[in-house]
Amino acid sequence: MTANGKAAGPAYPIEDHTYDVVVVGAGGAGLRAVVGCSEAGLRTACVTKVFPTRSHTVAAQGGISASLGNMHPDDWRWHMYDTVKGSDWLGDQDSIEYMVRNAPAAVYELEHWGVPFSRTEDGKIFQRPFGGMTRDFGKGQAQRTCAAADRTGHAMLHTMYGQAVRHSAEFFIEFFAIDLIMDDQGVCRGVVALKLDDGTLHRFRAQTTILATGGYGRAYQSCTSAHTCTGDGGGMALRAGLPLQDMEFVQFHPTGIFPAGCLITEGARGEGGYLVNAEGERFMERYAPSAKDLASRDVVSRAMTIEIREGRGVGKKKDHIFLHLDHLDPAVLHQRLPGISESAKIFAGVDVTREPIPVLPTVHYNMGGIPTNFHGEVVVKKPGDDDAVVQGLMAVGEAACVSVHGANRLGSNSLIDLVVFGRAAALRCAEKLTPDGKQPELPADSADKALARLDHFRNASGGTPTAKLRDSMQRVMQNNCAVFRTGDVLAEGKDLIHKVHGGISDIGVTDRSLIWNTDLIETLELDNLIVQAVVTMDSAVNRTESRGAHAREDFSERDDKNWMKHTLAWIDPKANTTIDYRPVHSYTMTNDIQYIPPKARVY
Ligand code: FUM
Repeated sequence: MTANGKAAGPAYPIEDHTYDVVVVGAGGAGLRAVVGCSEAGLRTACVTKVFPTRSHTVAAQGGISASLGNMHPDDWRWHMYDTVKGSDWLGDQDSIEYMVRNAPAAVYELEHWGVPFSRTEDGKIFQRPFGGMTRDFGKGQAQRTCAAADRTGHAMLHTMYGQAVRHSAEFFIEFFAIDLIMDDQGVCRGVVALKLDDGTLHRFRAQTTILATGGYGRAYQSCTSAHTCTGDGGGMALRAGLPLQDMEFVQFHPTGIFPAGCLITEGARGEGGYLVNAEGERFMERYAPSAKDLASRDVVSRAMTIEIREGRGVGKKKDHIFLHLDHLDPAVLHQRLPGISESAKIFAGVDVTREPIPVLPTVHYNMGGIPTNFHGEVVVKKPGDDDAVVQGLMAVGEAACVSVHGANRLGSNSLIDLVVFGRAAALRCAEKLTPDGKQPELPADSADKALARLDHFRNASGGTPTAKLRDSMQRVMQNNCAVFRTGDVLAEGKDLIHKVHGGISDIGVTDRSLIWNTDLIETLELDNLIVQAVVTMDSAVNRTESRGAHAREDFSERDDKNWMKHTLAWIDPKANTTIDYRPVHSYTMTNDIQYIPPKARVY
């Protein structure tokens, strides 16, 4: 190490930083963890590849679930029942209890921080109906989703960033995390990152590293996810030899604008919008007689797909569905749904007060991710211990699989997951870590692997442009790992996606610089995406049942006897995957509620 704190590497000088906690990602989960760790007096850094308020949480529309009871009596136990049922019984019930019990306090905290929630006539936080949210253990539609019009994520993210900068945390903005630093004992000791605007390299040493890097929606061609959603944390975890959990469960949101894919919030149906087919029929009444258009997302997406397949799609090619909002009071549209009214105009040329919006199920959320317990600690299966904690490493938000969403997430349970588990991770850090605690020196070569990977891609001179390979990956995922799956289509997908992975060895990067080298960054992102695409496909081939978002036409029933278990998937550098399982937690956190046993999932 040189006197100015710069370690001299062979080709890449590296700047060293030491913190108690390094949070990677500045979306809702990352920022909540940053606030909590800073409040606990821990020296906290936040490393983020985009400016915090550009994180994908900004795009969340419809709202955040919590049993506040502002519109009618409500109970966290009802929220728990709905979430367990929504998860098709693959959710861990201790984690679900943790989330729903802490949800009201988390929302009031946001309110006190300044989130401009929409209001009821008497000034309370407005709550709207959302799919799968019911009263009294399934006896009627609940209004549980707290909303700031249809820009809830935007309001939350800006407020939370404001809170985060009030504290002493340091932000490393437009720093791209390349890889985790893992020691010989399997302990995470920090992360290596590239500063995008000047090409300098940085090694962050930390007692705990928290991955809050979001999902990997961009493995698909049509998704509501931002271009930045490349699952960088999942890629880093896989390269560190850790498994990802339940990757076969990919959520399609029923209402992506056709064909652009941008989100039209479920809140639109919550306000009274409904879907129709080419015959003008409100077909959801056939598929979900009680919840209709507000059945859970997997159910609605499948119903839409069946309507299109059976020739009742709308449009010249009969390849999409109409969402009607034109019967709603324009004042309601203006007040509660201004954002999607604008999106429909921009992306579909539709005036929502007069015409229906063309929509199609679009990839929206990854239920799978880095396995954690409800403290946010990453867990791994070891002999005799299914939940062994990986020291020094945590994951929160969509990057993680805690698992509260199981096989299918309910709308508005994502924003609450972010803040509840971002806070939980910070509380755990406060409990376990010593502020300014002594940390062992990092070995001199601790960044070498990360830098070698960077150097490899920077100088890659193959014949395949990154964009071409990315396009191939996205097409395979879209065609072969979609709303409905069969063994044959998945087997073909497995073959194809492994071929795409093989194409990485022929990748060509044309820009050799390190400053704003988007060609290089997109290649590193593709390298993160492709491994997650492979484990998604391989996990989907492997699970021979239908559950939640994983709908197998050749195994159309849920099979609790054989498949009530989490998939764990590892991948080696040659893309060989290893699959194992962890038991689903069939116990609650406290005795205030009993385990909710599986039953048929009808809406
Ligand atoms: O439809 C929506 O507003 C999306 C919400 C969510 O995914 O939680």
